[in-house]
Amino acid sequence: MAPVLRKIFGIYPGSFDPLTNGHLDLIERASRLVDTLIVAVLHNEGKETPLFSVEERMDLIRASLNLPNVEVDAFDGLLVDFASHKGATVIVRGIRAISDYEYELQMALMNRRLRPEIETVFLMAGEAYSFISSRMVKEVIRLGGRIDELVPPMVASRLKDHFQPGKQ
Ligand code: PNS
Repeated sequence: MAPVLRKIFGIYPGSFDPLTNGHLDLIERASRLVDTLIVAVLHNEGKETPLFSVEERMDLIRASLNLPNVEVDAFDGLLVDFASHKGATVIVRGIRAISDYEYELQMALMNRRLRPEIETVFLMAGEAYSFISSRMVKEVIRLGGRIDELVPPMVASRLKDHFQPGKQ
């Protein structure tokens, strides 16, 4: 009997405000594990006001990627509902340090409770990126520091436009 070929759809969700080189590394690695990876940008309702709009964040992700099996989309509401709507069976999350673990475990268990058919898979952040977060990137550039090695070039340029207008 011929094997049943089932395509695996994965979701890599986040705020991506903005995309960092750590995210990019994770997207590249996750894209090798699934047939199609959807990078899903959260509409931050109720969270702190984002620096970039959802459309800007999606454009920056698209402009920084060149992977044929990666799509970029946006979602609001429950992540598992969006994943299910997209036919995704895997949620990919990155873990940088032990400090990430508690929150990620809680989220994974809640998502499993909501939709047990969707599995969360954790990838360890690349060691070169394990100290990078979107929040710190914004803080560093806001205070005049250098962020060029931390984010893709397009993101660095947009951050400079925002925080250091007239200075490139
Ligand atoms: O990388 P981030 O910004 O911490 O991503 C957090 C994200 C988007 C994965 C999380 O906030 C999320 O899934 N939000 C959607 C709402 C939801 O499904 N909540 C229930 C699970 S705790």
